[in-house]
Amino acid sequence: MTIDFKDPSHITQEAIAQLNQELAEKSPRQILKFALSQFDSIGISFSGSEDVCLIEMGHKLRSPLPVFSLDTGRLHPETYQFIERVREHYGIDIEILSPDAQQLQDFVKKKGLFSFYQDGHKECCGIRKVAPLRNKLSGLSAWITGQRKDQSPSTRSEVPVIEIDEANSQGDRKLIKFNPLANWSSKEVWDYIRLSEAPYNALHEKGFVSIGCEPCTRPVLPNQHEREGRWWWEEETQKECGLHVKE
Ligand code: ADX
Ligand code: SF4
Repeated sequence: MTIDFKDPSHITQEAIAQLNQELAEKSPRQILKFALSQFDSIGISFSGSEDVCLIEMGHKLRSPLPVFSLDTGRLHPETYQFIERVREHYGIDIEILSPDAQQLQDFVKKKGLFSFYQDGHKECCGIRKVAPLRNKLSGLSAWITGQRKDQSPSTRSEVPVIEIDEANSQGDRKLIKFNPLANWSSKEVWDYIRLSEAPYNALHEKGFVSIGCEPCTRPVLPNQHEREGRWWWEEETQKECGLHVKE
């Protein structure tokens, strides 16, 4: 089925659900190709981790490839180095988004640099990640993420390939969100990275699987789920930073 994404009346839950069923049969590259062909105003949200797959797939599909990263100011040195390596390797621009300086300054003055260990990560993530993302998304019609179902049995088991991002839509202006890797397993991602000889974050050689900010990410032990390395002092169901809320 085709949807005229320029006409808001075409973007209904039913139409997107049907398209999701059709796209779920396709490969991540085909899904990405579809997304990039349908929208001019679209961006790939690159965390500096395994989602490099999207850039490997996308750099031959569109030039310039629109990619952005949220620089929380707390990423590992290896992640900054990796983002730079990706930029050079693919010859692409990566838009680096920073938090609002005043908001961050006020927050750190009041609560210090490690308040998340005391009262949870929501406030810090809200300022360092979610607000800059919302700001960026307000100028886009669609965005693309590297979310996968197997990343978190408790919060991501339902991740669709395409969805309406209700939390970031404004009135009639429906924002579309693509998760081309939704149905890939970690093994498929890594087979792809190796086969395509894509660059990867050096932290993966030190036992890190899921990678976020330095104070909130740690390596996992054999057979530990990757999500256990994120915000490990919090409950399983709380381990989302707010980038991917439903409404
Ligand atoms: S998070 O919500 O727990 O932080 P996760 O690290 O699993 O997210 O990454 C899932 C997807 O969210 C990534 O593939 C990417 O699309 C997006 N994302 C997460 N962190 C960032 C970031 N710092 N900059 C840009 N995109 C990000
Ligand atoms: Fe802050 Fe940790 Fe969230 Fe990074 S992951 S924005 S350091 S709470």
